[in-house]
Amino acid sequence: MTANLWYKNAVIYCLDVETFMDGDGDGVGDFAGLAHRLDHLERLGVNCIWLNPFYPSPNRDNGYDITDYYGVDPRYGNLGDFVEFMHAAADRGMRVIIDLVVNHTSVDHPWFQSARESEDSPFRDWYVWSKEKPDNITEGVVFPGVQEAIWSYDRKAGAWYLHRFYKHQPDLNVANPEVRAEILKIMGFWLALGVAGFRVDAVPFLIEDMGLPDGGNQDPFSLLNDMKDFMSWRRAGSVLLAEANIEYELAKDYFDDGNRMSMIFDFPVNQTLFLSLARHTAAPLRQALMHRPGPYGMGQWASFLRNHDELDLARLTKAERSEVFSAFAPDENMQLYHRGIRRRLAPMLSNDQDMIRMAQSLMFALPGTPVMWYGEEIGMGEDLSLNEREAVRTPMQWDDQRNGGFSTAKRSDVFRKVPDKAPNGYQAINVAQQISDPASLLHAVTGMIAARRSAPEIGWGEFEVVDLGTDDVLAMSYRWRGGHVVTLHNFTDKPVTFPVEIEGIERYMPLLSDADNRAPFNRGSKLTLPRFGYCWLRCNGERH
Ligand code: NOJ
Repeated sequence: MTANLWYKNAVIYCLDVETFMDGDGDGVGDFAGLAHRLDHLERLGVNCIWLNPFYPSPNRDNGYDITDYYGVDPRYGNLGDFVEFMHAAADRGMRVIIDLVVNHTSVDHPWFQSARESEDSPFRDWYVWSKEKPDNITEGVVFPGVQEAIWSYDRKAGAWYLHRFYKHQPDLNVANPEVRAEILKIMGFWLALGVAGFRVDAVPFLIEDMGLPDGGNQDPFSLLNDMKDFMSWRRAGSVLLAEANIEYELAKDYFDDGNRMSMIFDFPVNQTLFLSLARHTAAPLRQALMHRPGPYGMGQWASFLRNHDELDLARLTKAERSEVFSAFAPDENMQLYHRGIRRRLAPMLSNDQDMIRMAQSLMFALPGTPVMWYGEEIGMGEDLSLNEREAVRTPMQWDDQRNGGFSTAKRSDVFRKVPDKAPNGYQAINVAQQISDPASLLHAVTGMIAARRSAPEIGWGEFEVVDLGTDDVLAMSYRWRGGHVVTLHNFTDKPVTFPVEIEGIERYMPLLSDADNRAPFNRGSKLTLPRFGYCWLRCNGERH
């Protein structure tokens, strides 16, 4: 296989245009502001940006409720501003992927408005209806405690409609060939404007046949093959990154060796990682990595710490989840949907700088493609006074000036307040301050990204968990084309000293380290990792 699969060595940075930078001073982030701030991303070293939805939307679910798939919400600019941003990103060597949200639309979408109007509407069959009240309508809600049911009655339509998410997000009927054709058309439109692929929202719900007569008469995965084939013709090298919180048994079908999904977020590893952090031992994560299936041809797991949603812990046992809750989200207000945590990383880890850095280094070292959430590179905090997942979607903290440099608007005109309380408020935590401090988290993360980019073995190579005889440290090894990298992460709050003896490796050269481990050493030498320390080693010789 050639090395053309760019996403295997990419570092993806997710942001929401709304919260990143306000370019015109109206209190809302926009494409002009984002284009202006690309220097931050370039300095950081990321080479792919994932944009949360920016389409016209009533914004009842952070833009995941769309009313027009072919436009830009006027609050963020227009298509011209989008193209200018795309040009600026390309100029800096960054690819852009965007959210493709086609499991559902907003109730306000003209398709749904027409569909509910009459059974003769050309859009009636674009959605999933039931004349009778379906059974068990409260089973399978995605947002327990907030969402009541997955079917709601629409008086105008005189029928029940399916919505796997909020009531205001009716599911599209993907068994309808017209809907499938429209999905491809939407993809074609944005590919023509230069995007390098899509983060596909809610894939398991997209392809399910719930509510469709005869199960929709479709092979559920055929839609994914159609999407991938179509893309490959329209833009070579474009990718699909799946939001699919699935059992590992299903991964083979979702990847189809990369002919369906190019990347899938690894939710099971994400949850186990936090269990390991809570317990101060590498054991659970090491087990999870050892049993993780794959690799799958061109397919690749995507690693992450936090994202724009809650930290979903539903795959842990109840007892494990309680452990993570008591370590990282002890107050009920920090928890969400009876399964997750609505906090950012830094405050979750009590702003323990060593632990935050170790967790970040671990994310870049996990075999796969790392996906970061904006603001994590400086250790931003959350605002728990906001609703549900909005807590982790506060504006980017650029400097210690008004509104944290996010907007020049009057404070009261900014659409969402920039956190200003110690210890994670903008006065203390901001990009400008951390640029000027070589000991800052921002500098550390920048170094990690440079190391990750220089170690393609991690994204491409054969992966192995190494047994060093201790559960305190997670040791991972990756080999590719004669290159060999090993990473070590100390999960405990005490220094750990151990001999580094890995079969077949005589010489170790540190590639990244948070401590004094900078000199090359030979097999059998003892290495000390400080509390929550980490060290990446290139083995035997330089990469060929
Ligand atoms: C998954 C997205 O990540 C989440 O933010 C959204 O609420 C749901 N899909 C519904 O679109």
